[in-house]
Amino acid sequence: MAKHTIQIPSNFIMGAAASAWQTEGWSGKKEGQDSFLDQWYKNDRYVWHNGYGPAGATDFYNRYAEDIALMKQIGLTHYRTSINWSRFLTDYENVVVDETYADYMSRVIDELIASGVEPMICLEHYEVPAYLLDKYEGWSSKHVVELFVKYAEKVFERYGDRVKHWFTFNEPIVVQTRVYLDALRYPYEQNTPKWMQWNYNKTLATAKCVQLFKAKNYNQNGAKIGVILNPEVTYARSSAPHDQYAAHVYDLFYNRVFLDPLIKGEYPQELFDLMSKHDITFESTTEELTVIKEHTVDYVGINLYYPHRVKAQSKAWNENIPFHPSYYYEHFDLPGKRMNKSRGWEIYPKIIYDMGMRIKNEYNNIEWFVAENGMGIENEVVFKNEEHIIQDDYRIDFITEHLYYTLQAVEDGSNCTGYMLWAFTDNVSPMNAFKNRYGLVEINLENDRSRHLKKSGYWYQAAIKERSFVA
Ligand code: BG6
Repeated sequence: MAKHTIQIPSNFIMGAAASAWQTEGWSGKKEGQDSFLDQWYKNDRYVWHNGYGPAGATDFYNRYAEDIALMKQIGLTHYRTSINWSRFLTDYENVVVDETYADYMSRVIDELIASGVEPMICLEHYEVPAYLLDKYEGWSSKHVVELFVKYAEKVFERYGDRVKHWFTFNEPIVVQTRVYLDALRYPYEQNTPKWMQWNYNKTLATAKCVQLFKAKNYNQNGAKIGVILNPEVTYARSSAPHDQYAAHVYDLFYNRVFLDPLIKGEYPQELFDLMSKHDITFESTTEELTVIKEHTVDYVGINLYYPHRVKAQSKAWNENIPFHPSYYYEHFDLPGKRMNKSRGWEIYPKIIYDMGMRIKNEYNNIEWFVAENGMGIENEVVFKNEEHIIQDDYRIDFITEHLYYTLQAVEDGSNCTGYMLWAFTDNVSPMNAFKNRYGLVEINLENDRSRHLKKSGYWYQAAIKERSFVA
């Protein structure tokens, strides 16, 4: 196919993302400031690649100035990260701020702004404090919803004058899906009602944060508050009604459970009907549902990596085990699919376009942006050239194709305002530490975590400078 120069609109966000826990390391962390992820790491140490864990991470806590200088060099317009809830406070009940950590965050924000990189801050990227998990079972509890809103208020008080892009959660569905739906993680309990309670309480917490943000006028300088979701762009195996229904139910349980209440203010009735059919109950009140209805988000970040393909469930369901949405579906492998073998994820760049069109047509064309998209590759060092620069042409191709489809969606009227690569640097994945490297910038773990732009870093730099690329 002939190649073309694709123009990137002048105000289009060209950024990169990360999260607090995945980068900052444990420097300065106090006793009792563990998050869900630290607890997870401590319980499941054996799965960690080469023994790397969160203790060192990329040492962003100490090296943020060096990293922000690299962001400036690449020309990132925006950088997304999180504030680590478990570290921002020393007392989660009385909302006592850890001044050392708060000051570090303040310096990060100032340095970003001074470098011309707009900060985008998320209040929870899986960093729910372990204390709240142990004491209240985390997001099972309405009390934790209240504590989160109080934490959010402290954060807005500190940084609301400088930060214009806020998000409550990154991928709010993920933790409870691994813990309570698929029972893959501690405490290994399959409990779909608990899964739904967590979903609901995080939605309620978002609505309450939106309410607070506006009531206290934090939106005055054009600041916005939203959420970052990971809807699974789902394709049915065939057009046969049973496969179509499987994809439809999958979409209700994994996507619309967050998209609908957060953007439109209401849950799909069909989801509630399916839940009552399977005795999935959770605590909600009319007042709470009104808060959700009246305080929808300003915009959404969407994390998109790979498509989901489903077909109708072929096996008879064992009625003695608790209900799981896979009662209705099975995953389906597309024959001949393109793969990122390191991560085991299919590559299908059109997911971005399809999501963009869906937001346009079904979600009031709300403002959205690609909040994460990227390619994690194992053992990249073998691709170094004589100048020791990783020749990650596969990542350049990946970004080219995904950015192309993002801009196609813009051209076709979707209100998409940006693209953020996951990730700025290689970092600690909650699944596999530094096994799969995602960065535009290499973190050399053998050499004191020194930073080096990869070929993709130079490519991204050129695309941002020229506001165009060839696809
Ligand atoms: C996203 C998360 O889902 O995927 C990130 O927001 C994560 O935190 C990224 O690192 C890549 O996934 P993984 O499991 O390979 O680290």
